[in-house]
Amino acid sequence: MSDKTFELVNPETGKKTALPVHEGSMGPGSIGVTGLFKEQGVFTYDPGFAATSSCKSAITFIDGQEGVLMYRGYPIEQLAGKSNFIEVAYLLLYGELPDKSSLAGFDEQIRYHTMINESLLRFFNGFHYDAHPMAMVSSVICSMSAFYHDSTDIRNANHRETFAHRIIAKIPTIAAAAYKHSQGQPFIYPSNDLDYCSNLLRMFFAVPCESYEVNPVAARALDLLFILHADHEQNASTSTVRIAGSSDSNPYAAIAAGVSSLWGPAHGGANEAVLKMLNEIGSTKNIPKFVARAKDKQDPFRLMGFGHRVYKNYDPRATLIREMCHKVLEELGSANEPLLELAMALEEVALEDEYFVKRNLYPNVDFYSGIIYKALGIPTSMFTVMFAIARTVGWVAHWQESLEDPDRRIGRPRQVYIGPTKRDYVELSQRG
Ligand code: SDX
Repeated sequence: MSDKTFELVNPETGKKTALPVHEGSMGPGSIGVTGLFKEQGVFTYDPGFAATSSCKSAITFIDGQEGVLMYRGYPIEQLAGKSNFIEVAYLLLYGELPDKSSLAGFDEQIRYHTMINESLLRFFNGFHYDAHPMAMVSSVICSMSAFYHDSTDIRNANHRETFAHRIIAKIPTIAAAAYKHSQGQPFIYPSNDLDYCSNLLRMFFAVPCESYEVNPVAARALDLLFILHADHEQNASTSTVRIAGSSDSNPYAAIAAGVSSLWGPAHGGANEAVLKMLNEIGSTKNIPKFVARAKDKQDPFRLMGFGHRVYKNYDPRATLIREMCHKVLEELGSANEPLLELAMALEEVALEDEYFVKRNLYPNVDFYSGIIYKALGIPTSMFTVMFAIARTVGWVAHWQESLEDPDRRIGRPRQVYIGPTKRDYVELSQRG
């Protein structure tokens, strides 16, 4: 905490309160209001917590005005260009880039934990064939707490680390099982001699009756997308994991809560919604009609993949993914993907429109990612699951950090009550 304070004066009583300012290593300070109600008898009001710091964190830094994103101080552009997802996962979890032996040890742990309990695998047979994969993934993750009792004691550091390795290793296997169930195809077991993304692609697309070769371009594209989706500060799903974990719930339940929050189209579900929107727009001649709908307050339609609570500039991830699109589609032989042309035309029209410019609405991480997933052969219904696979690393890192936070308390916001004032019960016979 700095020695800076903000002085608050109660307009009715004139009582003054010096509110402390919590300064971080980068970014704006935050006014500490913990004592406000005791001192002044009022709460703060901040719907969606747009101006509220919920915690102190050393994991990810975002500057929304400048379009900056850093994981543990490393710019996302450098990590995307030089690192890989497993190394980034280690960085987010442990705070430092690993040396060779630490990286090898971590990678071995993740490969070791890729299988899931056979009874857990049978859960998938209970789902309807057309169950949404996010419904399957969230429920199976929550059920993991019924199986892996050696990693549910949140006060045991070994349990916490085993949980971290387990959930990061198993979520691709769970995702692939959900996909295979939806296809009516047999489950493909993980192969520990494959890297993380190659293993995932093989579990998705291999079938028992044919040999399967992973396309290295596809594996690298997936690895890059996972790096870009791994963490993003206190977004809705990460905040959900933190608040679920604040009640000392078991970690699998906390992650399952995060998956549920990510599912929403305003959040991680946007990547699926973008593809649906682009298919609905269909052609560049229809762009003006959809842009007009997005601006019409009477129409609930929004331009999916546009806008962001924090970025009032380009989402640096969207820029990197758009650049990837061209390269990956070219290498995968889908260079003239009509949806990419349509997305780029839509971006151009929107960014020349005063409504979007005035509100700083730029493409976000979800605007282009689905086009690459589609080129990799991943169905639209699985797009948010892919987001969840990557974001599991960030969720685990924040869950661990929250457990070690000296300021840790159960999350329990207050409210501005606008309901009826006190009134007496009326007997049914008197209610007319
Ligand atoms: C993710 O938080 C994170 O970090 C999330 C994420 C992560 O990595 O975890 O980055 C991932 O969730 C990205 C966002 C994906 N969602 C979408 O693409 C859905 C479409 N976008 C929006 O619904 C919206 O922009 C949000 C939800 C992303 C942000 O909402 P805010 O910050 O609450 O902004 P707002 O709703 O208050 O909008 C401000 C204005 C409003 O107009 P006015 O009332 O000022 O006239 O901008 C308008 C909104 O109507 N607006 C849009 C719009 N987004 C905002 N208008 C049309 N289309 C849009 N997409």
